[in-house]
Amino acid sequence: MLSIENKKDIFTKYIELGSFGLPIEEFVEIVFLNFYEEINNELASVEQIPTTEVWETLNKAVTEFDLDHPILKILDNHPFFRQIIGPEYSMFNRYPKVYDYLFNQWDITHLDEINIGIIGAGYGQEIITTLFYVEQMLQRTNKTGKNYHVTVLSQNNRIFQKLRHGMLYPKTTINHYFKNSMNVYFEEQKEDVFSFSRNFTQKVTFQDFDLLHVDKSPIQDAAFDLLLIHNVIQYLTLNIEVQTLKAKLVKIFRYMDLVTKPEAIISIINEVSKPNTHISEVCDSFAGNLSSYHKHQWGKATIYIKKGY
Ligand SMILES: C[S@@+](CC[C@H](N)C(=O)[O-])C[C@H]1O[C@@H](n2cnc3c(N)ncnc32)[C@H](O)[C@@H]1O
Repeated sequence: MLSIENKKDIFTKYIELGSFGLPIEEFVEIVFLNFYEEINNELASVEQIPTTEVWETLNKAVTEFDLDHPILKILDNHPFFRQIIGPEYSMFNRYPKVYDYLFNQWDITHLDEINIGIIGAGYGQEIITTLFYVEQMLQRTNKTGKNYHVTVLSQNNRIFQKLRHGMLYPKTTINHYFKNSMNVYFEEQKEDVFSFSRNFTQKVTFQDFDLLHVDKSPIQDAAFDLLLIHNVIQYLTLNIEVQTLKAKLVKIFRYMDLVTKPEAIISIINEVSKPNTHISEVCDSFAGNLSSYHKHQWGKATIYIKKGY
């Protein structure tokens, strides 16, 4: 009989197959903590493989790196596994250089309140990272009294629903990054497992949103002083024809312009091994056509700074 830890090791090896060298241990900890029961049940219901042997079968396939093994093919096309991994991958403090730049260079003196938009939620890692950087920025600049709010716009799926109802995080993971300040945004749910505190839920609002249908977005006015669109746009290329993609991208950029205030900052990251030229073309022409932006590259991010009116 395999223990949960054994199963987690097998699952880690499985995720590693498609990870392209990205660090995944922390990611798997969070996925497993939140979805263990469902992973177990979904695996047990994989057809053609006896329930009692399914973990052993998966273990054999991943250990032997047998990418043609039927179980890997089944999981590859399995809607549940596609939803909880792959495009939802993220990690805490993934782009320190970018966050350092954004939160150190940003002049917030003229803002009565700071409004930040995040498109694409993942398992909440970037949201939590952003909150910590904002807190540090306010402390450094002696502006701790200034109010701030984070609006998270993301596709409605089971991970987003989990975020809304309280994603769980292993204590070791958040302790690793946030140490003393952990108790600001988290509270202990059960032994060594943390979820959002009241302070977090007061600062963060979640909204269903589809980048492919920005006209249906609940936000249609100049709401944000800072807008982060990190590792979302590249996923739009899946199952979409080039002309449609280009037309959608133009709409997306117009939307980003619409929902940002004068002097706002927009940060875009598309971290992919092979950049999609159609995306880069439209991204390039965005700032080119709109003379109201300064554009520059910083680390993995393209930063657009909107000129004041
Ligand atoms: C790789 S995660 C990035 C999370 C976070 N922005 C970060 O950088 O850590 C991609 C996120 O984009 C969301 N997403 C993918 N396609 C989307 C779409 N068409 N509209 C809105 N969100 C989408 C996914 O659900 C997922 O939460």
